[in-house]
Amino acid sequence: MGLLDGKVAIVTGAGHGIGRGHAMELAKHGARVVVNDLGGSVSGEGVGRDADLTVDIIAARGGEAVANYENVADFEGAGRMVAQAVDTWGRLDILVNNAGIVRDATIVKMSESDFDAVINVHLKGTWAPCKHAATHWTERFKATGEPVGGRIINTTSGAGLTGNFGQSNYAPAKAAIASLTQTLSLELFRMGVTVNCVGPAAATRITGTMPGAPAVIEADDVPDGEWNRMDPAVSSPLVAWLASAEADHVTGQVIRAVAENIIWMKPWADGPTLNNGGKRWDAAKLGMQLATDVFGTRAPGLRY
Ligand SMILES: NC(=O)c1ccc[n+]([C@@H]2O[C@H](COP(=O)([O-])OP(=O)(O)OC[C@H]3O[C@@H](n4cnc5c(N)ncnc54)[C@H](O)[C@@H]3O)[C@@H](O)[C@H]2O)c1
Repeated sequence: MGLLDGKVAIVTGAGHGIGRGHAMELAKHGARVVVNDLGGSVSGEGVGRDADLTVDIIAARGGEAVANYENVADFEGAGRMVAQAVDTWGRLDILVNNAGIVRDATIVKMSESDFDAVINVHLKGTWAPCKHAATHWTERFKATGEPVGGRIINTTSGAGLTGNFGQSNYAPAKAAIASLTQTLSLELFRMGVTVNCVGPAAATRITGTMPGAPAVIEADDVPDGEWNRMDPAVSSPLVAWLASAEADHVTGQVIRAVAENIIWMKPWADGPTLNNGGKRWDAAKLGMQLATDVFGTRAPGLRY
């Protein structure tokens, strides 16, 4: 028995890189996979049939996959992608939102269109497939009254979680995906749908745009069973597990898979707190109060 036998999955941006690794891994565990990819450049220009490459690799390894060439940020296109899964195999169980582009520049040099394009592919390109998948699951839930066991696995990045120089488009888009994950986990849990987020790291076309980056590799370049810390499929076993029935209690989480480590990210949490005792804050005194009781940059003995 495979971990994902009988499941139907979509992996977006699966023509290359990390998405190809996820699609191969889900298929290896028995899922039938819609391999989505627009087939453009790393900065989102042009279109192509790159999804076919991954479909062929999966087929050669005895798995089942079909290609989809939609732009995930196009609302109607995202709808057609979900419909393709349902039309082909009767259902959708797993949605892995992975598609992405980069257009790095410091804010002064970044054009408005570079900002819009990156936010659009990552954030709307995650929200739109989620919306169509959630609609499909709601229909199933209403028809049967049974939890549908759906899975959404989104993709964030260290840049989104801690910020990154030169990525004032990409970093907030990836932070927003973590936030979207938390919100959808609340909205969809009632129907038995979990929503989680992974933060991968790999030598792909995206990292290949950075100065001094390691050479780009594809998941199928790494022989089966061989460990390569920059393998685009390093995070794929985590994705396959989150997609499985075993992970039905895990939702709203952000988990990074970076080389040898799987790291559970703690969410934003309250830190040291200043209380005004029911009186309006005084800006002239606030700096001293914050320094003493919040930032700890002023000795507490100086409080009085
Ligand atoms: N490489 C890393 O170290 C790293 C780190 C953190 C997060 N990520 C994230 O991983 C994901 C995959 O990136 P990658 O590094 O494998 O890069 P990649 O360029 O190899 O793969 C991204 C794929 O998405 C496809 N794509 C782009 N726009 C699309 C659209 N609108 N619709 C459908 N497909 C589209 C591209 O054609 C490409 O095949 C991205 O979301 C990226 O932000 C990557």
